[in-house]
Amino acid sequence: MQTRITESPEEAALILNRGGLVAFPTETVYGLGAGINFPEAVEGIFRAKGRPSDNPLIVHVANVEQLETAVSEISRDARRLMERFFPGPLTLVLEKSGRVPYSVTAGLDTVGIRCPAHPVAHEFLSLSRCPVAAPSANRSGRPSATSWEAVMEDLDGRIDCILKGEASRIGLESTIVDCTGEAPVMLRAGAVGLEELQQVAPRTTAAGPAREGETPRSPGLKYPHYAPRATVVALEAGEKRKPQGASAYIGIGQAPDGTALARRCGNLDDYARELFGFFRECDRRGIRTIYCELPPETGIGRALRDRIRRAAGGH
Ligand code: TXA
Ligand code: MG
Repeated sequence: MQTRITESPEEAALILNRGGLVAFPTETVYGLGAGINFPEAVEGIFRAKGRPSDNPLIVHVANVEQLETAVSEISRDARRLMERFFPGPLTLVLEKSGRVPYSVTAGLDTVGIRCPAHPVAHEFLSLSRCPVAAPSANRSGRPSATSWEAVMEDLDGRIDCILKGEASRIGLESTIVDCTGEAPVMLRAGAVGLEELQQVAPRTTAAGPAREGETPRSPGLKYPHYAPRATVVALEAGEKRKPQGASAYIGIGQAPDGTALARRCGNLDDYARELFGFFRECDRRGIRTIYCELPPETGIGRALRDRIRRAAGGH
């Protein structure tokens, strides 16, 4: 299939409203969207990404009407979190309505809801005739796409359209909070930090890692993620290693001597914005080992540590 590249939200929405698969920019990462009313397009998302079918998709909305189409119940805490953080880099897990097919939620009775703040995303989603199911626009297991070029690299010829925008401002996926239990639980760290959530909903806690034999509360978190082909090694700040072979470094501090490619980031926000793009660049250049400095666990540092740890697996 020929992938159409456009800068027009109208054209992209037209393709979506005919049952097409459209990648679009958001402030976190690029999404790969299908209208939830198009079961074949929803199936197409899993095919295009090579995504396991038991991993649910986040549903994106632009307004209250689309929100009410997708959910059946909004708890008090959820309402307060929405008032404070929508639109933005936050996904809330809520009870789904009958309009959201089980193919979107992988059989769950809950649905992840996100309302992006990105103006192009907002325009595109407003023009959709239904809420839009969208995972990150990368091949399954690869780092999320934070630019339209990264979407091309993974999905050219496999999807109908790429709505071209600038590189994602945040660069890491949204914070996910489950609001279906007694108290909100943060399932995935992101740009909205735990402390900020707690200012609005004080009972919010962070989910611990799933124990052996237990199903994780966020099904996607059991799969390897965000991983370049190179081996990722997590370094505590100041930790010294002797790089071997073609190696690279990304972090705030000094790169180890002898790395072939080094990216020093001015602050944590820059680090978050650049991490996934850097992983992809390393792969294109045939780098074998990427050293990533682990930042402090505050603000977006928590999300960065999480992604680096996952990419590193046991290293
Ligand atoms: O920033 C983001 O969240 C991006 C943009 C495109 O919105 N999307 C994104 O989607 O990162 P994805 O599919 O790559 O990651 C979604 C995560 C998965 O780990 C999935 O298991 C989890 O959200 N998830 C989705 N629906 C869920 C639900 N009902 N309950 C628990 N976890 C859910
Ligand atoms: Mg993803």
